[in-house]
Amino acid sequence: MTKAVLGIIGGSGIYDLPGLENVREERIESPWGEPSGVLRIGEIAGLPIVFLSRHDKGHRLSPSDINYRANIDVLKRAGVTDLISLSACGSYKEELPPGTFVLVDQFVDRTYNRPSSFFGKGCVAHVSMAHPVSPRLRIHLAEAARAEDIEAVRDGTYVCMEGPQFSTLAESLTYKALGYSVIGMTNMPEAKLAREAEICYATVAMVTDFDCWHPDHDAVTVQDIIKVLTENAEKAARLVGRLAKDFPREHEACPIGSDKALDTAIITAPEA
Ligand code: ADE
Repeated sequence: MTKAVLGIIGGSGIYDLPGLENVREERIESPWGEPSGVLRIGEIAGLPIVFLSRHDKGHRLSPSDINYRANIDVLKRAGVTDLISLSACGSYKEELPPGTFVLVDQFVDRTYNRPSSFFGKGCVAHVSMAHPVSPRLRIHLAEAARAEDIEAVRDGTYVCMEGPQFSTLAESLTYKALGYSVIGMTNMPEAKLAREAEICYATVAMVTDFDCWHPDHDAVTVQDIIKVLTENAEKAARLVGRLAKDFPREHEACPIGSDKALDTAIITAPEA
């Protein structure tokens, strides 16, 4: 049995993890380049936790400038088996207002300016992304949210745009018409790379705004988002605290095989 190590990636507004105990900061080298910053390694309720701030302190990295490969690589090297991404997002549904947490189960990747695989020339692999989110992690998150009285919707589709500009009205209306739930700028290729690294992945998409489709809300502004981010960050810390208390101490085999994704993915012949 493998020891469970929970990784937390903090997105906009989450640059630290309150409640993390016995913390040490570690800078792990990666052949993929510079990760977003140092890892904060500690524990909550005895569960080992590794925290990484996606945009780094002071929010110095834009979504396209984040080195997603290095981030996932250093988390893997730190022993992370299960990874939770805490991410701000806009909403495409009236029933998902700012403050709602969405435990998305699907992604649509609209990014175009980021390396999105550890594989390529010399060793080609095609991992399955049919089910990008670990169902077991989503269940643990839903249970933690219920225990903490945090409004969390159990499924949804997150469309990842390149950014850094927000969507045009036509894009926003299109994504809404396509039935997507939320939009953000960072969960792809993060989820793909986590799968290639055989790390179970789940996202808590924390709604900060209605994007620009909503007739009763002005175009999205950073000022409006920041107001909601602060409240969301407090709830996210409570959610992670509860998750850690109840999380299994041994890594549970992923029912969809996220933790064995490479067993069936590498196509290059060993002698090639
Ligand atoms: N992050 C938070 N709100 C967003 C929005 N409306 N579009 C893209 N990313 C976001």
